[in-house]
Amino acid sequence: MDKAQILVASNRGPVSFSINEDGSLDYRRGGGGLVSGLSSAAATTDTLWVCAALSDADRTAAANAPEARLDLAGFDLGGMRVRMLDIPPETFGNAYTRVANSTLWFVHHMLYDTPNKPRFDSAFRAEWEDFRAYNAAFAEALLTGSADNARVAVQDYHLALVPRMLRGRRPDLRIAHFSHTPWAPPEYFRMLPAEIGRELLEGMLGADHLGFLSRRWADAFLRCCEVFLRVDVDWARRTVEFGGRVIDVGVHALGADAESLRSRAGAADVDEWRTALRERVGDRKLIVRVDRTELSKNIVRGLEAFRELLREHPEWHGRVTHLAFAYPSRGDVPEYREYTEQVQRVAKEINQEFGTSSWTPLVLEVNDDFPRSLAAYRMADVLLINPIRDGMNLVAKEAPALSDDGCALVLSSEAGAADELGADALLVNPYDVSETARALRTALEMDDDERRARCERLVESATALPPRRWFEDQLRALK
Ligand code: G6P
Repeated sequence: MDKAQILVASNRGPVSFSINEDGSLDYRRGGGGLVSGLSSAAATTDTLWVCAALSDADRTAAANAPEARLDLAGFDLGGMRVRMLDIPPETFGNAYTRVANSTLWFVHHMLYDTPNKPRFDSAFRAEWEDFRAYNAAFAEALLTGSADNARVAVQDYHLALVPRMLRGRRPDLRIAHFSHTPWAPPEYFRMLPAEIGRELLEGMLGADHLGFLSRRWADAFLRCCEVFLRVDVDWARRTVEFGGRVIDVGVHALGADAESLRSRAGAADVDEWRTALRERVGDRKLIVRVDRTELSKNIVRGLEAFRELLREHPEWHGRVTHLAFAYPSRGDVPEYREYTEQVQRVAKEINQEFGTSSWTPLVLEVNDDFPRSLAAYRMADVLLINPIRDGMNLVAKEAPALSDDGCALVLSSEAGAADELGADALLVNPYDVSETARALRTALEMDDDERRARCERLVESATALPPRRWFEDQLRALK
């Protein structure tokens, strides 16, 4: 790899700050593939990560030391520099909550209940102005922070306009944009106001290389370019010609970081959780799911599938427990608050219908606890992952890699992970509750040898492109 400076830009950064009782600031490393992917690249290169301040503590940190050189505990990041942007709260709220999360996320995950939403009125157009301003703040920070010929890796739908903003002013930069979400097909993307759809596509086409997690999402993007920009796509090479340049579109199927996960999952706090969970569920079979409480994760239909299994197969009463960890997410979006209540309501109904004095069929936990999730990954007999649509779904890859005795995977065909894991998972249509219930039963009743053999193959596919190589592949594509 050459040594040119690397810049990364993402809305959520690699650290979050908190304020101690004595008023001093502390920081904590965030999770995710991108942070571990950078560990190799950053160790040998000058790296600057630009992100948004997301909390009051982040804003205090950003105001006191806009650019910090941080050693992220446990990771040799070679003292990577992190620059947090203190974007005015109203601009940030409109860009992040309204445009990015309530609109672009909904479009790419096809989440709208169309009789009422979306509605693109003058209020939305004002929010869009703030989305532009927020993208411009990132572009400005990247321009200020970059040396000649630096490589810039822009992340996700929040920052779709950044590549073009950079290109216009600094043709020397080599720019990649990576989408961690699915991409909407033209039939759905056309819901966006025409000028805004075009601005998004043209914004991304400012990059030299565009990366997606699945071929399905890359193809959908290319089709949108054909339909809305009327550009020529070379489908054999998977390139688009735009503005006198050729942009290539690649698929980089991020895999699990088995090494670092296994070392974390072997720690004492995870063992303690394992013992505690085992005491709670006894020797019953365990169905596990771990998600953010996120509309696209389809938690309610998953719970309903468990209910249907219990209704139709009383022989499983008292012999199975469903551990559902649904961690808080995006509480500023009203649909998420309603969905969280719905998840809790259905969970309660299931326990009322089937629970006995000695058996709680469903254990729903809503507070985020990473070591407890790892303990559950190790113990799961069956892993349920049934999103309506998902860029990848790393849990589908991480949990099998940690399994103590092999787990069976019930997986939505609409997750990017189904591309690699489809052969050994039990694939389901996420809308089909009955099919999901049948798959859960098949998974519970799978014989031990078959379950272990399938899980071994799942792990092989799930770890084929670890974060480090995933990131290096993208940098290499910039040459
Ligand atoms: C998805 C997105 C990420 C985002 C994450 C958590 O994985 O692709 O960009 O950071 O969700 O969402 P949040 O809104 O809490 O950052």
